[in-house]
Amino acid sequence: MDHKILALGGDGIGPEVLDFGLQLIYKIEDIFGINIKIERDLIGGACWDKFQVFCKNETVEKAKNSDAILVGAVGGSKWDSIKIKGTPEEQDGLMRLRKELDTYLGIRPAKVYSGLNDQSPIKEKKLKGTDILVLREMTSGIMFAQPRGNKIENGLRYAFDTAAYREDEIKRFVIAGFDLARKRKNKICSIDKANVMESYKLWRDIVNEVSKNYSDIELNHYYADNCAYQLIMNPSKFDIILGCNFLGDIFSDLVAVFSGGLGLLPSACLCGPPKNFVKGIYEPVHGSAPDIAGTGKANPIGMFLSIAMMFEYSFERKDISTIIEKAIDKLIYKVNLTPDLNGKLSTEEVFLKFIDELNNEARV
Ligand code: NAD
Ligand code: IPM
Ligand code: MN
Repeated sequence: MDHKILALGGDGIGPEVLDFGLQLIYKIEDIFGINIKIERDLIGGACWDKFQVFCKNETVEKAKNSDAILVGAVGGSKWDSIKIKGTPEEQDGLMRLRKELDTYLGIRPAKVYSGLNDQSPIKEKKLKGTDILVLREMTSGIMFAQPRGNKIENGLRYAFDTAAYREDEIKRFVIAGFDLARKRKNKICSIDKANVMESYKLWRDIVNEVSKNYSDIELNHYYADNCAYQLIMNPSKFDIILGCNFLGDIFSDLVAVFSGGLGLLPSACLCGPPKNFVKGIYEPVHGSAPDIAGTGKANPIGMFLSIAMMFEYSFERKDISTIIEKAIDKLIYKVNLTPDLNGKLSTEEVFLKFIDELNNEARV
């Protein structure tokens, strides 16, 4: 056995895109003569319905003993509205996995595809040359920091979260970001609200301190609100966008506008000391899309590209990830895809056409 994967479908379209992702992995085993062990388990609402927790202890143990974790998507109104007291790890299965595995580096790329120019509301000439990587801190910040909760105060409902970062939580993430910038265009845009918030003042200080060791990297700080505006006006001016857990979540959906659809975007959450990432959680950026779940319309490309990232980062098989990415480029250029991209094909039909392209690429 060469690699061990824990596969967690989750909810809504999560299990649908995961199933085709696993079929892709079987195909890759055949083509490249490698042996991958896949274990399946529950996460999110599917796990809650059976065990009244969003992620079991034994699933965390399995994840710790795997080389990579592949996730579909979690959530849905039925479970999002459950009010249980506790930490974010107790309230959400994915948050628990990220925290327990300490996968602090979120890598969320958004490419522009020439076959999809009409899909983006941004003009083609503005999109030319756009290729963005959102780096999102994944295991700290306002989504995790304590105290958080809700109570009645003076007869009124009061709910609170804490926007807080410790310097080491920011620093390891920022170092990883600067290292990645050297593999791209040596350019970073760090986003914050340092004009109004203490935790973002620290964020900006740490980014500046780390940048002193990277004189070859062009660094620009943007207030996040201005960055959102500049990004839509001039997307091709940006390369890496470096943000905290909260802003990174928002900006990684925003950049899907340049690609032409949220269903296209992949992600990786990596752990390990900087420069030595091994284990990762791989998942499309999109959610469980309850509005199209069960219709066979889910776009599986974000899942396929997440699998490409898994081969690159956790299995050190850049050759395989490149072949998957090239096959996706050809597929998108040639084929009428799922309805979110204005196509008429089902998830399965897109998968089958993708496998044709993959076979072609593997023969080259
Ligand atoms: P969403 O990403 O699920 O859907 C947003 C829109 O994009 C919807 O119109 C949906 O149909 C479309 N879409 C998303 N993925 C698609 C795909 N692969 N193919 C075609 N269309 C796609 O966001 P939401 O509606 O805000 O959230 C739904 C649920 O998912 C919530 O419970 C939320 O908490 C959860 N969620 C989970 C993750 C995750 O597991 N990583 C990420 C985001 C949201
Ligand atoms: C994401 C999602 C998650 C997040 C939710 C489902 C916990 O939006 O992966 O982008 O907020 O990180
Ligand atoms: Mn999100």
